[in-house]
Amino acid sequence: MRGYFGVGVEGISKEQNVGTIVRSAHSFGAEFFFAISPDVDIEALKVSDTSDAFDHMPYYQYDSAQALVLPERCQLVGVEFTEDAVPLPSFRHPIRAAYIFGPEMGSLSAPVIERCAHVVKIPMKFCVNVGVAAALVMYDRMICLGRHAERPVTPGRPLLDYTPPAQVHRRKLRRKKGVRR
Ligand SMILES: C[S@@+](CC[C@H](N)C(=O)[O-])C[C@H]1O[C@@H](n2cnc3c(N)ncnc32)[C@H](O)[C@@H]1O
Repeated sequence: MRGYFGVGVEGISKEQNVGTIVRSAHSFGAEFFFAISPDVDIEALKVSDTSDAFDHMPYYQYDSAQALVLPERCQLVGVEFTEDAVPLPSFRHPIRAAYIFGPEMGSLSAPVIERCAHVVKIPMKFCVNVGVAAALVMYDRMICLGRHAERPVTPGRPLLDYTPPAQVHRRKLRRKKGVRR
């Protein structure tokens, strides 16, 4: 997959949801996991985590939206079921992204939304469990930025296996034009 991504939660209160999201994040290849003012002791969960996700992904915790620190040029993407949010199927994922999900009994706070470069929603009739929302967003990123064989026109497996495009030429071109990645 191109670029990298991290996954975060704000005000999360159920251990089971933390476990589900961390495990999915690890499995989809997230580079880091973070939480803003969690309502559950995630440091303690790290010890009892049976999926080993915390052994492979760094965890960062912050007291507020203002305190959140992200890697340089990494864009914060809020995932929230609001009217103004961009529907996920029409959203272009940033190459470097940190996705943040809201609490089970509420929504992302105004200070978090303010820090977001984008807010996206999964078009549905109503909100789903935060762990389900997280998996859907990561799956969508994988489909959009991952490298896969083209879907065939008729049902079934692709006709051709995926072959990676030749990258060397594109890199040379970029360097020539002095374009920074
Ligand atoms: C279960 S929802 C919170 C409950 C919701 N505010 C309500 O009262 O119906 C928890 C979090 O999951 C995420 N979420 C769930 N469904 C979503 C959707 N369809 N689009 C975007 N985010 C969603 C958001 O991050 C949200 O803050």
